[in-house]
Amino acid sequence: DSECLIAPSIIAGERENYEDKIRKVEREGVDMIHLDVMDGRFVPNTTFFADTIKKLRTSTSLPFDAHLMIERPLEQIQEYIDARCDIITVHAEACTENEFREIQERLIDAGISPGIAINPGTAVPKWLYGCLHDLDVIIVMSVNPGFAGQKFIPEVLPKMVAVNKELREHGFRGYIEADGGIDATTLQYAYDAGARIFVAGAAVYGGGDIHSAVIQLRHKAAV
Ligand code: DX5
Ligand code: ZN
Repeated sequence: DSECLIAPSIIAGERENYEDKIRKVEREGVDMIHLDVMDGRFVPNTTFFADTIKKLRTSTSLPFDAHLMIERPLEQIQEYIDARCDIITVHAEACTENEFREIQERLIDAGISPGIAINPGTAVPKWLYGCLHDLDVIIVMSVNPGFAGQKFIPEVLPKMVAVNKELREHGFRGYIEADGGIDATTLQYAYDAGARIFVAGAAVYGGGDIHSAVIQLRHKAAV
């Protein structure tokens, strides 16, 4: 289908308060808020954790798309369930098949959509084929995670195309999410490769007018 969802990433741009950043995109009609959790170990940067998400939960009714760039996500998953995220995505590089299955089970039981994220240098793990029925999101990273404002890596597009074809043939019915370096131009590439959720950090909060930035992304997404 052709539905497109825009998910601004609040870690991008100036270090102003997150509530304010959420308010600014909520009034532009974005579809969800992308929350980049970084632990300083899985990635060389630290952002915020479940306590912050819990506080932000009271300031908007937009769906929360939590992207956990953390080591050993199974050990911390309950905190993010309790913070009432709507989608929780963990990294393929950070867990084993059994750990991911347990994460999926815990999320499904809590009514939360499970997601898996795959770094640019990582191939789709074979074990993921056994987890496709309870999988709502696959984030195909288009930058190496750690920071907003990086350049889109076009070499990930064939992987997106393959995910869209092969994993769907094996029962995947969720969304492909493009994350990293998305602007009006790269959104189109990712759309053509099968992505329907688009994270946008710098393109929304990079300093320009937020209103026209969201309109531009939406316009591309609508074509
Ligand atoms: C990268 C994060 C992304 C990033 C997006 O580590 O997962 O979500 O903040 O920001 P832009 O769109 O600026 O690449
Ligand atoms: Zn992200």
